[in-house]
Amino acid sequence: MAEIINGKLVSQAKREELKSRVLRLNEDGVEVGLAVIIVGNNSASRVYVNNKKKGCEEIGVNSFEYALPEETTQDQLLDLIAELNEDRRVDGILCQLPLPKHIDEQAVINAINPQKDVDAFHPFNVGHIMIGDYTFLPCTPAGIMEMLKFYNISVSGKKCVVIGRSNIVGKPMAMLLLKENGTVEICHSRTENLKEECLTADILVAAVGKAYFVTADMVKDDAVVIDVGMNRNEEGKLCGDVCFDEVSLKASYITPVPGGVGPMTITMLLENTVRAAETYKLAE
Ligand code: GUN
Repeated sequence: MAEIINGKLVSQAKREELKSRVLRLNEDGVEVGLAVIIVGNNSASRVYVNNKKKGCEEIGVNSFEYALPEETTQDQLLDLIAELNEDRRVDGILCQLPLPKHIDEQAVINAINPQKDVDAFHPFNVGHIMIGDYTFLPCTPAGIMEMLKFYNISVSGKKCVVIGRSNIVGKPMAMLLLKENGTVEICHSRTENLKEECLTADILVAAVGKAYFVTADMVKDDAVVIDVGMNRNEEGKLCGDVCFDEVSLKASYITPVPGGVGPMTITMLLENTVRAAETYKLAE
């Protein structure tokens, strides 16, 4: 039976550290602020944004919400970002994705000042992640690395298989595992013999976006299984990409959904926001 990796526990420890870093900044006369932009009425996005604002409150970071209507034009959104780029109260700018279809997401990401890009989505920061020398961490992958470290799970020399090649999770996840000396493979929807590839993994990261996609027959005995999925099953219940019940009988460690990767992603966004103030405001 696998040990459950408790994302809430790791998150709490990290948030305590962040709280004291914010206090230290406050003592130096520096306030920390995060601007959160949400466009339209996506209910999942609303939940994420509320949790991000709550996280800010918890560690003493000011949050500024910009809730814009669905029909907002790309130019209006770009104008707002230009304003926030100049706003001294704002250390981090987060524009919740997905955006409505008439808005070009990459154009919006590119408009954010890389020094305020706390999602680490701007090509400047993506490039730094590739080099392995960076200020801003990609939030979900960095949260996973924190959990592995907390549970003393070593990556060095291990075979790591990442299922999913998104810019938000799969690709940066592979880079962080590689930086820790993992032997990394990225699988995706076109991969042949996916099951056989997954069976080679000492550390398996599922970032597919399909409920119950990873079954026990795809998992090696004693593998570490990380579930990035945030899906709704047929009953509307939140569930991951992994069949938790059967895979947990085989794995050595496993993250649950909810309570695994999810809380860590927001905590790493907060880490980036505090880091922005420490790096760019304190240095002025
Ligand atoms: N939508 C889903 N995940 C994310 C994320 O990490 N950041 C932003 N901005 N939008 C998202």
